[in-house]
Amino acid sequence: MNIQTIGVVGSGQMGRGIAQVSAMSGFKTYLFDISSEALEKALSFIKKQLDRGVQKGKWDQSFVENTLKNLHTIEDMNKFVDCEMVIEAATENKAVKVDIFKSLDAVVSSSCILASNTSSISITMLAGNCSHPERFVGMHFMNPVPVMKLVEGIRGLETSDDVFNATQEVAEKMGKVFVKAKDYPGFAVNRILMPMINEAVYALYEGVASIEDIDQAMKLGTNQPMGPLTLADFIGLDTCLAIMEVLHEGLGDSKYRPCPLLKQYVDAGRLGKKSGKGFYDHTND
Ligand SMILES: NC(=O)c1ccc[n+]([C@@H]2O[C@H](COP(=O)([O-])OP(=O)(O)OC[C@H]3O[C@@H](n4cnc5c(N)ncnc54)[C@H](O)[C@@H]3O)[C@@H](O)[C@H]2O)c1
Repeated sequence: MNIQTIGVVGSGQMGRGIAQVSAMSGFKTYLFDISSEALEKALSFIKKQLDRGVQKGKWDQSFVENTLKNLHTIEDMNKFVDCEMVIEAATENKAVKVDIFKSLDAVVSSSCILASNTSSISITMLAGNCSHPERFVGMHFMNPVPVMKLVEGIRGLETSDDVFNATQEVAEKMGKVFVKAKDYPGFAVNRILMPMINEAVYALYEGVASIEDIDQAMKLGTNQPMGPLTLADFIGLDTCLAIMEVLHEGLGDSKYRPCPLLKQYVDAGRLGKKSGKGFYDHTND
């Protein structure tokens, strides 16, 4: 499979990062979002990141120009007809993703690979809503995409070997390390990470320690580069809650129940860095 053109659906924290890395890696890249404001914000964020790379001496101006030549923001999904692969990175919500894949299914060419960057939702279920489940795959990037080395590759029940191998090749061309995981709720990374974050929220909820002390204890006590509550703010508290709900529902064990405090923060619109406030204040970040 010769993949040269990649589509990305959703231009939030993850979609903009995937589109940036895709364009930097030489793929012609189309970035789509239902919100034109989100698309504009994503493009200006990517430009800033690329300029910062020039200032830091990571690459030169001609690399920035070539990257931007590869990158096209689009407001009409029909452009995806040119893509050999489309990676969905929209909100972590089953109904939203199913709708997106139904629309994509009607637009893309018969050989196009459909990939989801979902953190937890069943790849087999999403594939089941498409006419070619053998061309469907999980491609789970980490945040921030340009920095983090891992892509977790998830094979749905029907994913073909060719599609899985081509997905690994794309991830490697993007400079990533591809780790294979089975299609169970949360796959490998979030099956382990999210219960830890949720437990940190429980520790806060039950008054075990303050926000700062929980983070400091985990940083210095377990050698993590950032504490779990800081990390939750970076991921997005709405995304953390959605993943815990998928783990709880999919694995049926009460140990995965989301902390009421996490739900309360999401209800209050405190989503973390992306909304300006979560466990910490990010208005001046
Ligand atoms: N945040 C993380 O650390 C992280 C890490 C790995 C994977 N993910 C996964 O990536 C996906 C996106 O997460 P995010 O953090 O970028 O979220 P986000 O809230 O920053 O962005 C979501 C984007 O999706 C767009 N969107 C919503 N419905 C859409 C539709 N129907 N069509 C097109 N665009 C639509 C929104 O306008 C928004 O721009 C989720 O599935 C999440 O689980 C997130």
